[in-house]
Amino acid sequence: MEVRSPETETEFAVYYDLRWRVLREPWGQPIGSERDEHDVTATHVAGYDEAKRLVCVGRLHAVETDVGQVRYMAVKELLRGRGLGQAVLDEIERLAKQQGMRTIVLDAREAAVGFYLRNGYVATGDGHTLFGEVRHTKMEKSLTGSA
Ligand SMILES: CC(C)(COP(=O)(O)OP(=O)(O)OC[C@H]1O[C@@H](n2cnc3c(N)ncnc32)[C@H](O)[C@@H]1OP(=O)(O)O)[C@@H](O)C(=O)NCCC(=O)NCCS
Repeated sequence: MEVRSPETETEFAVYYDLRWRVLREPWGQPIGSERDEHDVTATHVAGYDEAKRLVCVGRLHAVETDVGQVRYMAVKELLRGRGLGQAVLDEIERLAKQQGMRTIVLDAREAAVGFYLRNGYVATGDGHTLFGEVRHTKMEKSLTGSA
């Protein structure tokens, strides 16, 4: 798999479409609800398979100079559990360190908390409930340990 930022307008369209299909469509949310104001300046990470098809995505944006937030992690449903999400998160953490960030924060969906625990994130409190049903846990990880 090739892990990099989408580059062309078409690649970005496919990138946002995967976000929407995984994180918004199942809850009946409209196209456009998968984007926010940070997308213009954020760091976008995407994984492409051997046939150059998009298979996974994730995003990093700065909330303070040394604090980054991860959002919109999504892997195509049939390809989960094969290390693709891991590859996206590893790249996001590498880029966060490169950008001088010392901490990553995120709001994990209940079903994804185990994935982040496995990656060294700790729960710091209850997060919001999205669409009236998707509960989140606030989590964070220090990037300044042994690395
Ligand atoms: C959460 C998600 C991004 C993880 O990606 P993935 O490709 O399925 O996960 P990986 O195969 O890379 O897993 C990496 C490690 O985390 C573990 N893991 C993955 N999901 C897990 C979970 N829900 N609970 C516990 N452990 C989990 C894997 O077993 C693996 O551990 P190992 O290296 O010891 O085998 C993906 O499942 C997904 O898109 N889910 C739906 C959307 C979503 O909830 N996004 C997160 C929003 S906060």
